[in-house]
Amino acid sequence: MTGIHRSIVILTGAGISAESGLATFRGAGGLWMGHRVEDVATPEAFARQPEMVHAFYNARRRQLADSAIAPNAAHEALVRLEDGWAGDFLLVTQNVDDLHERAGSKRIVHMHGELRRARCTTCDRGFAWLDDLGTDTACPHCARTGSLRPDIVWFGEMPMDLERIHRALQGCDLFISIGTSGLVYPAAGFVEAAPAARTVEINLEPTSRRSMFDEHRTGPAGTLVPALVHELLQA
Ligand code: OAD
Repeated sequence: MTGIHRSIVILTGAGISAESGLATFRGAGGLWMGHRVEDVATPEAFARQPEMVHAFYNARRRQLADSAIAPNAAHEALVRLEDGWAGDFLLVTQNVDDLHERAGSKRIVHMHGELRRARCTTCDRGFAWLDDLGTDTACPHCARTGSLRPDIVWFGEMPMDLERIHRALQGCDLFISIGTSGLVYPAAGFVEAAPAARTVEINLEPTSRRSMFDEHRTGPAGTLVPALVHELLQA
């Protein structure tokens, strides 16, 4: 990697957590009890079958509590980059797990929400939530039952903090995309929203967005991200 960069935006997807033992959405293990993620992660599915949608996210939330699940070398390298970088830095993740935070990331945006948060559709409050959710769970603020949902952005809903993300993209001169298939917008379009940036894609395999990037590195994030961070901090 050549050149001096000041402002970095990093986009991560499920692939960065794969080596921590969390299944990606569209990989071989990407189905959940025979359902495609697109058929579970929607407001319509929640309205039709709330218990099924709760069960999907409860299983994922419980998995995060498993002592075997921990940040990997890629999450840790991004913390070294954030701590050692003199310029602007923003980590945008599509992931709903908390492995970036557990590694120590601070300047982070969860554009698709967070598994370990819930939201009440009655009083509109969002809050930390570590237990299972169900249709009979009462809101700790307004006491209403049946109106809690995972604080997750479903298909057809607006991702979080898009304004802040677009401001950072506009001004950045290095954009790095890690472990995302590039199939879900608007994240898939971020590479085109950073007009002044050198763009780098890291993925286990070439993605359909490959031609949009200046540089590709093919292989596991747990190896390639620490190597790239080392280069950037040396430069
Ligand atoms: P996907 O499951 O679509 O893609 C994961 C990507 O990670 C694939 O391109 C894999 O090749 C790559 N990958 C797997 N293991 C890797 C490794 N060890 N190192 C590097 N790359 C690896 O997941 P996302 O792109 O994150 O949205 O999916 C985007 C969104 O779709 C998710 O945030 C979620 C989902 O539906 C919502 O829930 C709203």
